Amino acid sequence: MRVSLYSDEQAASVEAARQVAALVRRKPAAVLGLATGGTPLALYKELIRQHGQEGLDFSGCTTFNLDEYAGLAPSHPMSYHHYMRENFFEGVNLPAERTNIPDGLAEDIPAHCADYEAKIHSAGGVDLQILGLGSDGHIGFNEPTSSLGSRTRFQTLTENTRTDNARYFASLEEVPRHAITMGIATILEAREIILLAFGAAKAAAVASMIEGPLAAMVPASALQLHPAVRVFLDEGAASLLTKKDYYRYLQQQCAGQ
Ligand code: F6R
Repeated sequence: MRVSLYSDEQAASVEAARQVAALVRRKPAAVLGLATGGTPLALYKELIRQHGQEGLDFSGCTTFNLDEYAGLAPSHPMSYHHYMRENFFEGVNLPAERTNIPDGLAEDIPAHCADYEAKIHSAGGVDLQILGLGSDGHIGFNEPTSSLGSRTRFQTLTENTRTDNARYFASLEEVPRHAITMGIATILEAREIILLAFGAAKAAAVASMIEGPLAAMVPASALQLHPAVRVFLDEGAASLLTKKDYYRYLQQQCAGQ
């Protein structure tokens, strides 16, 4: 994993956006894997800025979101469909028919998940996957003890995740108990992965992901198996890493790459 440390969330997000933009310029038909939550908001803002001010063109791109709450309609204000429209899609020129998000209201969920996997495959696979990180080490909604070989599927959320995400809802009661999520094996098939994590609340999960053993209890540790992962952290999220000086040294050596 290539670990990059920044003074704050904004600086990290601008740098992460630079990597996404470089791919889109190099490969106009890029397939992007997208995340929701608080973490990628500044990254999406920067991509929207580059679209508006620098002509970054998403018209040839295809996107696949990691996950969606089960039981929420696309029109629900807390759905990830709604989030993506509000925070990214309305600000760029992605063709709506090439944006894909699991359907939280799918009647036959296993068939919908199989179809989602098939769609990713027929689009040529994900070129670059954007990830956030749960405070319990989840990626997508792959909760601790998820199989490292898991594919897109129905998943029960932990109370930890429901409590973390209650800040986006009016009350904890309103937070859905289930989601549809890409699996860990699905995520690992992306050609490149960038993970962003900000704030001290993520520090323990970040340290386990990067420096801990590969473990089903820390789904993000599966990223250790991937050859092209870049992690963007602010000071708070990096605070429990033991090899911080080494990462800083490498970062200086790789500056501009
Ligand atoms: C969102 C997702 C989740 C979040 C994680 C962190 O699509 O897959 O794994 O990235 O729960 O959420 P925030 O960014 O809100 O702290």
